[in-house]
Amino acid sequence: MTTRETKGAAETVDGGGVQTVTVVDNRTGRTYELPITDGTIRAMDLRQIRVDDDDFGLMTYDPAFMNTASCRSGVTYLDGDRGVLRYRGYPIEQLAEHSSFLEVAYLLVHGDLPTRIELETWVEEITHHTYAHESIRRMIAEFPPDAHPMGILQAAVAGLGTVYPDAKDIDDEEGRHLQSVRLIAKMPTLGAYGYRHMRGLPVVEPRNRLSYSANFLAMMFAVGDPGFQPDPRIERALDVLFILHADHEQNCSTSAVRSVGSSQADPYASVSAGIGALYGPLHGGANEAVLRMLDRIGNVDRIPEFIAAVKERRELLMGFGHRVYKNYDPRARIIKTACDDVFAVTGVNPKLAIAQELERIALEDEFFVSRQLYPNVDFYSGLIYEALGIPPEMFTVLFAIGRTPGWVAQWREMLADPEQKISRPRQVYVGAGERDYKPVGAR
Ligand code: CMC
Repeated sequence: MTTRETKGAAETVDGGGVQTVTVVDNRTGRTYELPITDGTIRAMDLRQIRVDDDDFGLMTYDPAFMNTASCRSGVTYLDGDRGVLRYRGYPIEQLAEHSSFLEVAYLLVHGDLPTRIELETWVEEITHHTYAHESIRRMIAEFPPDAHPMGILQAAVAGLGTVYPDAKDIDDEEGRHLQSVRLIAKMPTLGAYGYRHMRGLPVVEPRNRLSYSANFLAMMFAVGDPGFQPDPRIERALDVLFILHADHEQNCSTSAVRSVGSSQADPYASVSAGIGALYGPLHGGANEAVLRMLDRIGNVDRIPEFIAAVKERRELLMGFGHRVYKNYDPRARIIKTACDDVFAVTGVNPKLAIAQELERIALEDEFFVSRQLYPNVDFYSGLIYEALGIPPEMFTVLFAIGRTPGWVAQWREMLADPEQKISRPRQVYVGAGERDYKPVGAR
């Protein structure tokens, strides 16, 4: 196969051996043959393309990383055109049907499904690290009552780094394991503390006889009830939601975790940075924004007016669109089914009708079809959370709890990758040229 592009002067040669691309620098007439590996060229290979010895060399310019792979990863496979998502090779649909969140967490962190003994040990370990240090509980109590629980969670996770100074020893494999366990185990506790604080309720300590998801529900909702046991259908639905959020390759928050971790900061500082990134409404904060949008729309009759506002760019249809998926997000499909299971227990969330009608219209409307905008994971998840009695401010906290094993797995993979160094993008400087300082009175 040989393709030639005259304007870009790029040529791909496949002679059965190493694949290369030949680049002709039209400024100098020189040609360069660059190896292609896994469908990529190395940006550093462009540096040799220079006009003269003083030239720094060619760089790529890729704001928002639209077409740049920052790492090699074996954690999650995502084919956005076909709507495929796999963790460590296992289709998300199979994991959502047969697995548990902690088993998936093990899979992501360790690379393979656990044996029975490995799973039991892992669950035991996570269960016995659920308590949070008293200083962190006191810190949370000092936040104003209307503090957003994502802000509290971000601070609390960063605070864990002060409680576990041993976490700085990122080269110690045993230490990395311990911090991974602590992070996954304590996230629901910290999330629930934030919720209880918001509600002005005393905290409920972790209940180690319960499953991961049931314990979280107990820490959120138990009021003087030591025997609290959620409906198993609710417990399972929450577990599935956590599974669906567990990893999503190099998204904004995972990239933040990797980037901060690349400076050899401890994993609490790194995951705290990920929580900050997830907080934003274009990322994990979208689930909260969807509910607020459905509230504002109010009833099905007002949908055409809202869609018109989206098309006039006065609104975003929150929970729609994705940088990578140009097809139905497979997680959204599974969540739609989980809605039925939850609503069978809680009664149907009245906003479901608005969401379904929005989806129906959007999937037929040229504006959304031509831009390949489909529902993403956040479109229906909020409806379930709301039916469970969870307030919108907590939705992104649930996303963070689910995403923690993914952040941990990606952080560990980054540390083990000999090619990774401190993350440090280049820039194209477009500011002022050199100029002389003037004293303030002379400006
Ligand atoms: N509503 C209306 N128009 C949209 C939307 C939307 N939700 N999403 C994208 N578009 C339009 C956008 O205006 C652009 O149009 P044009 O080409 O005419 O300028 C086109 O579609 C391409 O969008 P983009 O903004 O260039 O795409 P992106 O890859 O930079 O952004 C996104 C991806 C998820 C930030 C964006 O789709 C969005 O803002 N969606 C709403 C927020 C949301 O639901 N976020 C959750 C993402 S999934 C959970 C997660 O992993 O975080």
